[in-house]
Amino acid sequence: MFIKLKTKKRLKQILILEICSIVFCISVLAKQQAPTETYISNVNIDNQETELSKSITRGEEIYIDFCMQCHLADGKGTPKVFPPLAGSDWLLNKRKESIHSIKFGLNGPIKVNGEPYNSAMTPLGLENEEIADVMNYIMNSWGNMQDKMVTTEEVAAIKK
Ligand code: HEC
Repeated sequence: MFIKLKTKKRLKQILILEICSIVFCISVLAKQQAPTETYISNVNIDNQETELSKSITRGEEIYIDFCMQCHLADGKGTPKVFPPLAGSDWLLNKRKESIHSIKFGLNGPIKVNGEPYNSAMTPLGLENEEIADVMNYIMNSWGNMQDKMVTTEEVAAIKK
């Protein structure tokens, strides 16, 4: 009788142990699966963002080399001489003309944020891809924001 009771207790202990290890196994498995899923979804989000963010990074280099001397590092330009790109209504509302101006140059009277400018920007000899990159940079810097990325094809389609 005494022995039987002991074995019963043992059995109970083993059963509890077994349940515990099953629960542990399940939790380990669940943990193993969770990071894989997070990883996959991160990759998807990254893919959507990288194209634009890579273009912006390349565009920043181009901006420093080709545009900064006039439009300045903060994109504010110089009043009455070099128009601003930061907060520019021209850049925001004239997407095609902006691409055209970088591609082929711009001169004659324009108004940016109500201020008149009558000067000249010579064409800078950039490739279509470089123009797309610098457009993406100036349209997403200094508080500027765009919802549609400029592509090389879009630049290529703009003729003189
Ligand atoms: C030598 C000075 C100079 C350089 C370099 C220059 N710009 Fe300009 N930019 C100007 C001037 C001056 C105007 C206004 C032209 C006018 O009055 O018709 C202008 C106008 C613009 C405009 C339209 C007006 C506005 O402010 O939104 C954009 C967009 C622009 N530039 C972008 C660029 C980009 C991008 C680069 C580099 C790839 C660049 N510029 C390089 C002088 C320059």
